Amino acid sequence: MGGNEYLCEDTTSDLKIVWASNLAKLKPIHTMKISVLLLSATCWLLGIQMQAQLKPAYLDDSKPIEQRVEDALSRMTLEEKIAVIHAQSKFSTPGVPRLGIPELWMSDGPHGVRAEVQWDNWGYAGWTNDSCTAFPALTCLAATFDPELSYIYGKALGEEARYRKKDIILGPGVNIYRTPLNGRNFEYMGEDPFLASKMVVPYIKGVQENGVAACLKHYALNNQEQWRGHIDVELSDRALYEIYLPAFKAGVLEGGVWTVMGSYNKFRGQHATHNEVLNKILKTEWGFDGALVSDWGSTHSTREAALYGLDIEMGSWTNGLTAGKSFAYDDYFLARPYLEAIKKGELPLSSLDDKVRRVLRVNFRTNMDRNRPYGSFNTNEHLQVAERIAESGIVLLKNEKNFFPIPVGKYRKILIVGENATRSLTEGGGSSELKVKNEVSPLEGLKATYGAENVSYTLGYASGRPAYGRENPSPYNADSLRDKAVRLAKEAEVVIFFGGLNKNNRQDCEGDDRLTYNLPFGQDELIAALSKANENLGVVLISGNGVAMPWISQVPALVQSWYLGSEAGTATARVIAGQVNPSGKLPFSISVNLKDNGANYYGESSYPGDSIQVEYKEDILVGYRWHDAKRIPSRFPFGYGLSYTSFQYGRLTTDKEQYAKNDIIRTSFTLKNTGTKDGAEVIQIYVGQKNPSFIRPLKELKAFKKVFLKAGETQTVECTIPVKDLAFFNGKLHEWVVEPDTFTLYGGASSTEIKSVVSVQVK
Ligand code: BGC
Repeated sequence: MGGNEYLCEDTTSDLKIVWASNLAKLKPIHTMKISVLLLSATCWLLGIQMQAQLKPAYLDDSKPIEQRVEDALSRMTLEEKIAVIHAQSKFSTPGVPRLGIPELWMSDGPHGVRAEVQWDNWGYAGWTNDSCTAFPALTCLAATFDPELSYIYGKALGEEARYRKKDIILGPGVNIYRTPLNGRNFEYMGEDPFLASKMVVPYIKGVQENGVAACLKHYALNNQEQWRGHIDVELSDRALYEIYLPAFKAGVLEGGVWTVMGSYNKFRGQHATHNEVLNKILKTEWGFDGALVSDWGSTHSTREAALYGLDIEMGSWTNGLTAGKSFAYDDYFLARPYLEAIKKGELPLSSLDDKVRRVLRVNFRTNMDRNRPYGSFNTNEHLQVAERIAESGIVLLKNEKNFFPIPVGKYRKILIVGENATRSLTEGGGSSELKVKNEVSPLEGLKATYGAENVSYTLGYASGRPAYGRENPSPYNADSLRDKAVRLAKEAEVVIFFGGLNKNNRQDCEGDDRLTYNLPFGQDELIAALSKANENLGVVLISGNGVAMPWISQVPALVQSWYLGSEAGTATARVIAGQVNPSGKLPFSISVNLKDNGANYYGESSYPGDSIQVEYKEDILVGYRWHDAKRIPSRFPFGYGLSYTSFQYGRLTTDKEQYAKNDIIRTSFTLKNTGTKDGAEVIQIYVGQKNPSFIRPLKELKAFKKVFLKAGETQTVECTIPVKDLAFFNGKLHEWVVEPDTFTLYGGASSTEIKSVVSVQVK
């Protein structure tokens, strides 16, 4: 047997000769061993080469994502393309099994990962391992005025979503708080576009670090729940660009969000989910390269969905919450009807390919990213995140005679009144409802803090159980509940009332708006009666909306709290007892009367509309912009919140007096904690233009910073404001314009407590 016979054919002839002659010198046994070795090595190399040739580019994560997208797209059949752009179940799309492209799984959002629902109906699946950590509602997050907390919120939520094998978490929501009647304001980040923009970006980044896409919702103008499925919003381009879009824009451009959810309502005659104008802004002006997901049941037309940018159709023929036609997936607007239209040449293949590319990008960024972390669920760390945010977002609104904090040991007869002290507030509210592993109620938190023997409780008022789409009245007699509370209040040393709204229909709940600005279930009368029975009364309101407060002068102390999630009671008790110094600030103005609010001022045509159309007549004057312009004092202004310590502001200064359009204004402010307790303060800088050629708000928030100071400590706080942020949107020119003028910088502790003012010139 000649040694050279073991050599592979593709070896060069020179090598062949050398090896052959060397091999010839060896004993046959060695020759054989070497030959076997050589054969295996060569075959191994060939294998690698073949494998490399066989491995499609879309599976090769060393390749740029766009190349992978094009490669995957080129391998998909028309039917496979259609399949990936619509649902296969309540919360998933099918992927491309033949190519190993996984399903996309979604979940609500935005305050925790929702319990699993059935494949094709809204019933809960009854899993025993889907009880999540509930993070505070986004109103609370906004009230922290702390972007760092927003990042840890997003990160922890993303970890929970990843653990639960979700690829898209349906949040955050950044619709602007336009009227306090909107049933969904609790899911959003308040009335100010700048605050919402700064808070939303880190949330998105935190979520997406887990290889889970955030889904920024509801794009756009879904500012009321009343008639949300068809109400046609009319507003100026200025209001659209200056008030309602900035947080979405920041989420796309700065947050790099991977998916956006189209909303239910119409805008200028077309449904927002497939709207020519909104699509152009999102994808052309901002260059969004991810996927636009419909809200559940917000798609209404194959043609419009095909042409105006809807990429993933979800929940058609459902109301998004409870009802729905079963197994309608093939009939979706972007399913069979779209396929047929493409086959007949009625709709272009190019728009389908664009959608598929966007869906594939989501896949590559999430479930086809082999390096994404594994996530974690219900960890102590997540509970700590929830607690920290809750503690930082609670707002102290009134505190006469230092009612709060109530030191442990001061009283032995503490009476807690009110349903919200014990009610689960993670339950109800619509799609953001959560099944939680822990939810510490305020009463539990207070008992743990003050000793159960010192704390007693009575219901005081009662609502019914949460029920979507209808009111479920309480079985209790309101008069007896109130009389009992008043009787007990007379005997107590101190009374704390826990009320507000809850997650019932027509409260803070998706699907409908509130009916009145007043507190429901007779709470106004109850608070008034309690204050007569015992003047040592503190009120804690839990809500996602401002409410009328006819009793405000009768109570010495008021806390605005929120839907705080798993550690609600722990955080609340720590603030009440003074273990945490409150530092939250209102993310919206609380008007005295409903009519004092811009959206409600103009009557029904401006809110809620005539069931067909609503016109945003207050235009850009939303929230504090309205109160400023009309000189209508609010009850509690935007940005307001007290502390157990006091702060002294120095003079606000800028690094220069004159700026060019591309400059950055560097401001500095000294802040001193003049009290005896450590605490945090949010310094806020508002800017107004002196002689604008168009109407502009008196001032608008342009910078803020939360600063923690030890008692007695002083800090110089620096904030920057790019001059380009002083622009207004010129609707006629369709561009942002900074006019050369004098601009006034107002630095202070809220939108009305201005401590120092400085003017600068923009050339
Ligand atoms: C809501 C969305 C939610 C979706 C899925 C809709 O009713 O408007 O915010 O993500 O349902 O539950």
